[in-house]
Amino acid sequence: MKPADPSVPPVRRLGLADVPHCLDLAQDRSWPREERKWRLLLENGEGFGIDAPDGRGLAGTAVLTRYGTTAAAVGMMLVASRYGGRGLGRRLLEHVLAEAGDATVFLCATEYGRPLYEKLGFETVGVVEARVGRFHAGDGPYGEADPGRNATRLAEPGRDLAALCALDVKVFGADRSRLLARLFAFAEQVRVAERDGEITGYGAAWRSGDRLFVGPVVAEDDATVRTLVTGLARGADVRIRLDLHRRHEELVSWFDGHGLARSSTTSFMVHGGRPLPGDRSRLVASFMSALG
Ligand SMILES: CC(C)(COP(=O)(O)OP(=O)(O)OC[C@H]1O[C@@H](n2cnc3c(N)ncnc32)[C@H](O)[C@@H]1OP(=O)(O)O)[C@@H](O)C(=O)NCCC(=O)NCCS
Repeated sequence: MKPADPSVPPVRRLGLADVPHCLDLAQDRSWPREERKWRLLLENGEGFGIDAPDGRGLAGTAVLTRYGTTAAAVGMMLVASRYGGRGLGRRLLEHVLAEAGDATVFLCATEYGRPLYEKLGFETVGVVEARVGRFHAGDGPYGEADPGRNATRLAEPGRDLAALCALDVKVFGADRSRLLARLFAFAEQVRVAERDGEITGYGAAWRSGDRLFVGPVVAEDDATVRTLVTGLARGADVRIRLDLHRRHEELVSWFDGHGLARSSTTSFMVHGGRPLPGDRSRLVASFMSALG
């Protein structure tokens, strides 16, 4: 571990005024310029950054998203390529971990980030596959035409938010209600699956850049996943991306067969290897990787 470089400014909180610099930093690391995503993350969570000593925007960023007091996700860990390998990533991550306090902290790590996370005590507990492509609904029975047991419908915040949050907290194991309330404005579509008047799953589709992201997806079984994803992705005029938690082996071939091929994988890591709360077997797709 190198001593802190005194020429590098301290970590500071980021606000919405920093979004243009966040986009420049993302671009520097060949990440897309996703303004809507940064805005959601900075409005809902806490962004931290280090100003570039050369005065050219930000040298590094990280976003902490708290789920109640018990869990938190780290995302958007970025250090400008010209400042890489100088301890900024470590400094940002240590800062964010200190801010998170006693919460169980998790993240999705790229191969570039994993060595840093391992050094700071994160352990890999799962794999997330980015599934990308044009969705082919096929002629299967999973669309809205199916009035059967797995029918889905558009969710309405007034009618569904409370039940959706009640299901989500059992699965995610921590309180995402603040984020889920925002989901209705952020997403193009939120759908719920219902059986006997009870919500058994939900999913959302939202746009960023030239893609339609499908996530989060929470569902009690594979049939419900297929119905929700078909309802969300059918007819999309752009490529879809869905971040699938790989424990759902049976779904992999279904996604392959419907045009959503594996494009990359990330490691799902938990600080200190702590057990994750909730019933993650029903958490099929992340909202986005930065949100854990
Ligand atoms: C990942 C990233 C944030 C690391 O930032 P950084 O400022 O270069 O990292 P640091 O210099 O603070 O390195 C921290 C430690 O991790 C180690 N480390 C970092 N990258 C490493 C690598 N690729 N291989 C091995 N060790 C590595 C360093 O040796 C250092 O160890 P030390 O503190 O014991 O000396 C930066 O490379 C980046 O922005 N990458 C592109 C975007 C990305 O993939 N982000 C991660 C998203 S999950």
